[in-house]
Amino acid sequence: MRHLIGMDDLSIADIDSLIATAEDIIANPKKYSEVCRGKKLATLFYEPSTRTRLSFEAAMMELGGGVLGFSEAQSSSAAKGESVADTAKVISCFADIMVMRHFKEGAPMVASLNASVPVINAGDGGHNHPTQTLTDLLTIKREKGRLTDMTIGLCGDLKFGRTVHSLITAMARYAGIRFVLISPEELKIPDYIKHEVLDRNAIPYEETTDLEAVLSSLDVLYMTRVQKERFFNEQDYIRLKDSYILTPLKLAKAKADCSVLHPLPRVNEISVGVDADARACYFKQVLCGKYIRMALIKMLLEAKEKEEA
Ligand code: NCD
Repeated sequence: MRHLIGMDDLSIADIDSLIATAEDIIANPKKYSEVCRGKKLATLFYEPSTRTRLSFEAAMMELGGGVLGFSEAQSSSAAKGESVADTAKVISCFADIMVMRHFKEGAPMVASLNASVPVINAGDGGHNHPTQTLTDLLTIKREKGRLTDMTIGLCGDLKFGRTVHSLITAMARYAGIRFVLISPEELKIPDYIKHEVLDRNAIPYEETTDLEAVLSSLDVLYMTRVQKERFFNEQDYIRLKDSYILTPLKLAKAKADCSVLHPLPRVNEISVGVDADARACYFKQVLCGKYIRMALIKMLLEAKEKEEA
């Protein structure tokens, strides 16, 4: 059974094929409107979500399939103490594919080991968020025309930001990529990403606390929210939450073709004044998320059918 738990579950060829399918869906949506007729997608969300859950639901609907699920742990049997493993077995009786977001790192992996249908990780604690990364890759490909040879600045909460961890893991596999990691000292990228992804693959990167000093070197600027829900101490969150605020004045220092991405939701990291700038891609990015999820659902269901044939 094929699942998507982390970006390492996909080869470069898989990613290229998902991007090609998403581009074809964008060009010919009607061609895909029946490909999941009679299939059901279950969304199991133990943590808040707007974009990820609704884009998965919209994606399945636009493929002609149906959706079911829950959007908070309290309304599911998790509130009665059911394990993720048991829930995965139960949902396998109702749905053809399931998407799980969980506050615990590794929960979707546990689900995948117990499910008899494909499981997609929609964010596990501060760990990974592979479908956001597929969204980011499609956005970068559409904006830049390539996924190679560029300097990517990641700014904000690099410690707890799961989208950052998955994006670095994916982009590190493309040629000519350089990272600039911009964060407060307390929110630096975890050592395991540094050692196992960056150093192991000899990927050039620099760490800095100063966004303005590096802005002019970036081809992509990936802003992130300080992850309030992962802090142990509210005082630390309050002290760090507004570490970086991208304004039109600061953006004036960036390259004319720098693409500004953000997985959203934004809090204060990008002032609304930036939204009208042609370099602001974060709302286009949301739409890319729906199309790449359509491509992913189609790919995993086809793989499952092949296996069963
Ligand atoms: C991200 C997440 O859930 O990790 N949101 C999303 O899915 N687009 C980013 C965030 O919450 O900051």
